[in-house]
Amino acid sequence: MAYKDVYAAWQADPEKFWMEAAEAIDWDEKPSKALFEKGEHMFEWFADARVNTCWNAVDRHVEAGRGPQYAIIHDSPITGRTHKITYSELRNRVATLAGALRAKGVEKGDVVIIYMPMVPEALEAMLACARLGAIHSVVFGGFAANELAVRIDDAKPKAILASSCGIEPGRIVHYKPLLDDAIEQSTHKPEFCVIHQREQEVAHMIEGRDFGWHSFQYGATPAECVPVEGNHPAYILYTSGTTGQPKGVVRHTAGHIVALNWTMKNIYNVDPGDVFWAASDVGWVVGHSYICYGPLIHGNTTVVFEGKPVGTPDAGTFWRVISEHKVKSFFTAPTAFRAVKREDPTGELVAKYDLSCLNAIYLAGERADPDTIEWTQRTTGKPVYDHWWQTETGWTIAGNPVGIEALPVKLGSPTVAMPGYDVQILDEGGHPMPTGELGAIAVKLPLPPGTLPTLWNAEPRFRKSYLEHFPGYYETGDAGMIDEDGYLYIMARTDDVINVAGHRLSTGAMEEVLASHPDVAECAVIGVSDALKGQLPMGFLCLNAGTNKPHEEVVKECIGLVRSKIGPVAAFKLACVVDRLPKTRSGKILRGTMVSIADGKDYKMPATIDDPAILDEIKEALSTLGYPA
Ligand code: COA
Ligand code: AMP
Repeated sequence: MAYKDVYAAWQADPEKFWMEAAEAIDWDEKPSKALFEKGEHMFEWFADARVNTCWNAVDRHVEAGRGPQYAIIHDSPITGRTHKITYSELRNRVATLAGALRAKGVEKGDVVIIYMPMVPEALEAMLACARLGAIHSVVFGGFAANELAVRIDDAKPKAILASSCGIEPGRIVHYKPLLDDAIEQSTHKPEFCVIHQREQEVAHMIEGRDFGWHSFQYGATPAECVPVEGNHPAYILYTSGTTGQPKGVVRHTAGHIVALNWTMKNIYNVDPGDVFWAASDVGWVVGHSYICYGPLIHGNTTVVFEGKPVGTPDAGTFWRVISEHKVKSFFTAPTAFRAVKREDPTGELVAKYDLSCLNAIYLAGERADPDTIEWTQRTTGKPVYDHWWQTETGWTIAGNPVGIEALPVKLGSPTVAMPGYDVQILDEGGHPMPTGELGAIAVKLPLPPGTLPTLWNAEPRFRKSYLEHFPGYYETGDAGMIDEDGYLYIMARTDDVINVAGHRLSTGAMEEVLASHPDVAECAVIGVSDALKGQLPMGFLCLNAGTNKPHEEVVKECIGLVRSKIGPVAAFKLACVVDRLPKTRSGKILRGTMVSIADGKDYKMPATIDDPAILDEIKEALSTLGYPA
């Protein structure tokens, strides 16, 4: 069947399409139908079914004879270790961990925060929660204690599972002290913590609150899989919005399992038993969908990679892992290849490895620039597919459905809408734009299974952020266009979210932190173009009258403040002091114009600018930072 026929079949009868996709799943009670309309543009999928994610990701494969197959390959160049876990072992490990959590009172519906690096125990923690029907929320290790505290207060976890440390090139990330600090800062306190001690740094335990990962499992009765309703939340994953308060994206259980399973063959073109590798982090949505759940639900072997594209030990690491573990489909962010390309421009290290096992490379998380795609195609000789999605959707909105039909690649486009998504380009008033014209990208409701039904404890915010601007549509926050062949192009964000090394960050959140500095009267953060990371945040600070601290000192303190409040992942290292910020007469900061100046692009003098002379001051400040680069 051709892609267009599959898409047309979905359009003609979405109910039939998703009920057929649901047949690949083991149900405790089958759904009576796929879509449940809740009214007021709210929808749920397979809500009346009963199902367990862990059963589908682990146990059923053991029952079907995949017990001896590797479920997880932990490849950790940063520690020099590789560890493989079969599906049988995984079932036993997860069942025991779940049993120990249950013995401590964790039940269906309880929230558990997971704060761990790229170790198999992180996946086991997620699966143990799923086994019990507990709702996990994984927090990325590159966030500061304050960000963890915000998530603890919002999610109100009964327990927190954490590692003692993570390892970044040249430094240990002190997870446990960060966790202690976060719990100190948060109003809500977890009942207990379970600490996975790593030999690189053994953490101090707090008597009565903290339990050791292994000792707390001693003698635990393995837990069976607890069937949950189709609309039971499987997890909460926080993502950046336009303010300092992150959005808790909710994922319902049944739609998640059905959709991810569908994508493994149709998009990533792998069959059960094949090795699949997403080089991301469990703290991001890519890690949830394609390090943990997708490949395991589909009976694949997943690679858990604890390392970097370069420096662990060199730019050949990706190719070494692919050839050593016989990876068939590989997924990463364009920034990773930009880093590899910079170190190995001629692809010398690529040629050292046998990549005959690899069928295709997938990119997502940020715009894939044509140069990077072409370099990757040329040096590996493999097809490279860009695909576009978001934390909110959990899987591809637009991609190349290679398992159905590999469509011709057009550089700069993530290809076409996947079945389930009716993607449209709208003008400000919500009217469809003509082919080839730029507008806001929106998806006609309902969104397909596996996408967010709401935000955690924040339905009004969900409506306001996604549903209100274009009634009847989901607003993606991205702008772009669709060409005459139906190919989509993602051009920019319509909000203040920026994308740094494939990480989604809020400039608004950084501004909130900068504004808290006692010498800062006003500030603006913009995202400037960067050849490696795509974008980098840059701060402009206006100081209080009478501040006599040297500017460099304030800048240094502000950079330190963002690192300590948001975390190293913000990569906030560029800031300068200016007298005034360019604004419209109504007081709106002209961030877009500042970005154009910093990027060295042509810009039109905004008609509404209050005082054009301020732009010269901005240019001068930018030149002290070396911009335009
Ligand atoms: N825990 C703690 N700190 C972390 C971290 C983690 N899990 N991940 C990153 N950091 C830190 C880094 O050590 C760095 O700190 P530093 O300022 O002390 O150097 C900072 O956060 C910024 O990290 P990053 O943006 O990743 O930059 P980098 O310079 O360390 O590496 C790349 C650059 C391109 C190699 C790297 O960004 C990369 O591998 N990107 C892949 C992106 C990806 O997987 N995205 C997920 C979406 S698909
Ligand atoms: P996240 O929720 O962190 O996955 O970030 C989602 C955002 O990253 C999207 O809304 C886009 O702005 C951007 N993004 C993700 N994938 C792509 C892509 N393939 N091309 C362009 N932008 C992308």
